[in-house]
This record gives sequence, structure tokens and C-alpha cells, in this order.
Amino acid sequence: MNRIFSGVQPTGTVTLGNYIGAFKQFTELQDEYDCIFCIVDQHAITMPQDRLELRKNIKALAALYLAVGIDPEKVTLFIQSEVPAHAQAGWMLQCIATIGELERMTQYKDKSLKNVSVSAGLLTYPPLMAADILLYQTNIVPVGDDQKQHIELTRDLAERFNKKYNDVLTIPEIRIPKHGARIMSLQDPTKKMSKSDTNKKSIITLLDDLKTIEKKIKSAVTDSEGIVSFDPVNKPGVSNLLTIEAALTGASIEELTAKYDGAGYGDFKASVARAVTDHLAPIQERYAQLVESDELDHILDEGAEKAAHLANKTLKKMENAMGLGRKSRKATAPVKL
Ligand code: TYM
Repeated sequence: MNRIFSGVQPTGTVTLGNYIGAFKQFTELQDEYDCIFCIVDQHAITMPQDRLELRKNIKALAALYLAVGIDPEKVTLFIQSEVPAHAQAGWMLQCIATIGELERMTQYKDKSLKNVSVSAGLLTYPPLMAADILLYQTNIVPVGDDQKQHIELTRDLAERFNKKYNDVLTIPEIRIPKHGARIMSLQDPTKKMSKSDTNKKSIITLLDDLKTIEKKIKSAVTDSEGIVSFDPVNKPGVSNLLTIEAALTGASIEELTAKYDGAGYGDFKASVARAVTDHLAPIQERYAQLVESDELDHILDEGAEKAAHLANKTLKKMENAMGLGRKSRKATAPVKL
């Protein structure tokens, strides 16, 4: 069975972009693949975090994974910092990555331009992400379009490692969704919908109340043409809303443009808003039940144990290939708390 790995940062807000680009793919893939999903808290601390908020966000994200339909019986769900192999393999991959290639990452460039003080971790983030993926001999990584460059770097690092040391690592493929690989901001549809956007009208979060979602969609920026058609270059706002509805309902763009033939933007937006709220209402209900439950701890404990077992096998191979430590020493045992 082919293996899938993906991760999401526990940085508080989970947007409709995260849902369509990532979570929705996860739920579709869990029946066919051996899926491992991670709450990447070590990636989150590349930017300043409040420790109490971070702890709360980690649990909230775990609840959200389950609320969107991830089945813990089928997948392994765990927290990155609870499996030390990630940081260990991340260090090894940092040592084969070059500063030049890390500085070329567009997410690093964007974030470092916006911040006065930039952590070294922000620069070395991609080798840690590569470690996440490569430790599990992952075949496929489902992500949104904004992670493409990081996955390409992961492939380059794996190829470089295999060539230089030994054929130890599987080269992963990226998987991005057909509709919604890049959901755009509602207020500036030429920009990605991003959780760090300071204008909260630009983003829909999975936990926004339904009335707020409706209002945000109704005030989404479109154009003055008044015709609902799909043209991302000339009509980015309308095209973004069509993409959202297509991704959530499974309808094709052609079906949707036929449905809105002759409709005004008011009716169009009301109908997109209904598609979004219908989709998110049951997720929000499940989330409310799950977020305080003890079940989460049990799932995350089991997930960390399973993940550590798999990750440590690859870690030992990587250490042997690079000549670290002693060959005779057994792989590090999974950490029991
Ligand atoms: P993060 O936490 O920023 O985002 C999680 C997932 O959501 C996708 N995404 C989007 N998809 C469509 N439209 C958007 N507007 C949008 N915004 C975000 C992202 O592409 C991602 O799939 N570096 C990763 C986390 C990570 C990871 C990994 C992912 C760490 N290690 C290993 C895969 C494999 C990140 O910051 O995602």
C-alpha cells in the first residue's frame, strides 16, 4: 500500500484554503492509502508563538483533523515534537542542503521580508519538512499549491542523500487537488487566502460562525461585469468563488457556470455561501464535541508511538549511511511517557 504523509501547522486559524487544499484531500485518501498525518508544532515555532496558545492550538487542530472526517482507526495522527526523529533527521538534511537553495524559497523570502527579526529556523524550515516526509518513506504528499517548492526541495534533498550516501530514501510525489489548489483571498483575489492575513474579511476560517461566513462571502470582491464565468486572470474574484463551490460540492466548473447563467452576483454569492455553510456546519458540530474529549489524548499517544516506530527505522538507516554514532547500537526506542 502506498504511503501518504502530510502536515498542518497548529497556528490557530485553519482557513477554507487549508481545508480545500489539504484536509479534504486527506479524507478522500484515507481509504486507499496508508496515511500518516502530523500536527507540525516544530514548524510553528519558526515564528513567535505564545506557549499557552500553542498548546491549545495543538489540541484544537487534532480535534479538527477528526471533525473533518479523519478516521483514527485508519490513519496515524501525531504531534511532530513527540517524535524526536523529525528534529534528528531534519538536522542531517540541513547538513546536505545549501544556504543558497534555502534562501531561494519563496515562503522564506515573503515571511522574512515582512518581519524585522527572522529566526534561523525560518530559513531551515524546508529540511525539517523534508525530514517529516522522508522518514516515512512517503510515496505521495497531498498539499496545496503553495507547498510545491518545498516538495521539490524535498525530492532534491532525497536524491542528493541517496547519491552521496546510499539508496535509503523514497522520492515522494506531490498531489494537489484538481479544484482549489490555491484558494484566494476574498478581499484581494490575486493573493492566496492566508491565515496570517490581518484583514479577517479576506479569510474564512473553519470555525467562523455561519452568519459571519455568509457575510464574508457576500462582501467578497468580484468585478463590475455582472456575468458569472470562470476566468482566473480577468475575473479572479468570481473564479475563486466558483472554485470554492466546485471543490465543496463536487460539481464541475462547467456545471456551475451553466447553473449561474443569467444570475446576478447577489444570487451567486448567496448560493456559494450556502454551499460553504452546508459543508462546514456538521464539521463545526463534530469539532465542538471532540475538542474537550479525552479520546484525543489516547489517539495522539498511539499515533506518536506508531510514527516513532516507523521513523526510527529510517533514522537509523540515515545515521548508518552518514556514519553517525555506532552501527551496533539499536534504533532509538519509541519514547514512552
Ligand atoms: P500550512 O499549515 O501553512 O497549510 C496546511 C495545508 O494547507 C494548504 N493551504 C492551501 N491550500 C489551498 N489554498 C490556500 N489558500 C491554502 N493555504 C494553505 C497548504 O498547502 C498545506 O497543504 N509547510 C507546511 C506544513 C508541513 C508539511 C510537512 C506539509 C510541514 N511538514 C510535510 C506536508 C508534508 C505548511 O506550512 O502548511
